[in-house]
Amino acid sequence: MEKFVVNGNKKLCGEVEISGAKNAAVAIIPATILAKGPCRIENVPNISDVAIFVEILYKLGAQVRYIDKTTIEIDSSKILYPVVPYELARKMRASSYLIGALLGRFSRAKVAMPGGCDFGVRPIDQHIKGFEALSASISVEHGMVEAHARRLIGDTIYLDVVSVGATVNIMLASTMAEGVTIIENAAREPHIVDLANFLNTMGADIRGAGTDVIKVHGVESLHGGTYTIIPDQIEAGTFMAAAAATGGDVFIKNIIPKHLESISAKLEEMGVEIEEFDDAVRVRRTGPLLRANVKTMPHPGFPTDMQPQMAVLLSLAEGTSIITEGVWDNRYRYVDELKRMGANVQVDGKIAVIEGVGSLTAAPVRATDLRAGAALMIAALAAHGTTEIEDIEHIDRGYEDVDLKLRALGADIRRIHTQESVLTKAMSNGTTA
Ligand code: EPU
Repeated sequence: MEKFVVNGNKKLCGEVEISGAKNAAVAIIPATILAKGPCRIENVPNISDVAIFVEILYKLGAQVRYIDKTTIEIDSSKILYPVVPYELARKMRASSYLIGALLGRFSRAKVAMPGGCDFGVRPIDQHIKGFEALSASISVEHGMVEAHARRLIGDTIYLDVVSVGATVNIMLASTMAEGVTIIENAAREPHIVDLANFLNTMGADIRGAGTDVIKVHGVESLHGGTYTIIPDQIEAGTFMAAAAATGGDVFIKNIIPKHLESISAKLEEMGVEIEEFDDAVRVRRTGPLLRANVKTMPHPGFPTDMQPQMAVLLSLAEGTSIITEGVWDNRYRYVDELKRMGANVQVDGKIAVIEGVGSLTAAPVRATDLRAGAALMIAALAAHGTTEIEDIEHIDRGYEDVDLKLRALGADIRRIHTQESVLTKAMSNGTTA
């Protein structure tokens, strides 16, 4: 195990390059299962969630080749068995995408129920409703979701809740189904558009991605090809928040400013200066942070995956702010950790009331999930003193080389092995620590 040790209260200054989008990559990698022939995917983030997915595909029989650190070639033609056991699927939530992809290719799939960040109940009823509408039979037994169909047939599906995962899964299952599938009340996130663009590049006929109605005209087959993943909206937002929290001046490169609109607007409301360029944004703060209210919503609303990072900024602001979490039932597990650093946050259901405290102080904390970890990292960068953040494997799931990128901006952050891991390593090597 590893932890971050952060000496805080240093302004971040300089340039940082944003990696490819995690949530696009974890949809596009399983989507290669549908293609006959090699798919070369560029701008793949070098993060553990991607590594897990690549391992799953490899174990299913795909040929996987790393061309360089961020380019992978995957040829899924040789996958024979549409079965994903628990040991592989449990590590991540997005493993549910294997159901849609395998069902779309083989008309059957057996995938262990997914894991991933714990924000309370994470149902997949809308995914199942979609598969059933496409004529698949679904059963959930002994922790496995089993789906099969004689032939998948397009239909109109109205999602009861706007779900990224259900939208992705229905797109995957319907790409080669007979006839037309219409997804109404579909998610509109940038990674949904990216997945549709990837599938269309490989020969699919998907229209309307980015709106709330997506039409999938089933095609006979998909071929291989080359595709470049979009930049990560949330990684960019996290660096924007870190620059703002430390009163820094950071030029954030390889981004799509349109994807950051809701984040940029909120930061400007809080007194942060934002300058937009074609594929970059400069974030600078010279004055105090101002209070604000934040309500998270599906895209194009304010992203829930930036909610914990905003809670840190609002803790550093003057006055009382309110966050309303509009997507997840329970995404405030990090608040107890933030309180250990001096934050004053009261949570009642989906609402958090934050009394700005002006500055935070170092404390030992734990990353409870990916974005919670990102938030605690920002808090540590701004805080007085030395903060130790444990359980950083959550952060590594979604941020490529985050410590290296922060160090290049002037942060004092070190990754160290904890005693436990030194001992474990020594024991497995047959030596004593
Ligand atoms: N929901 C249902 N039924 C379903 C599916 C979802 O009720 O069948 C509910 C959920 O309980 C939740 C809401 O709908 O309240 C939205 O869930 P969604 O399906 O959109 O979430 P997801 O697909 O599981 C993705 C991202 C999350 C991000 C959410 C919301 C990936 C791999 N994950 O999750 O990202 O928070 O969309 O934008 O794309 C992260 O990156 O840190 C992360 C957690």
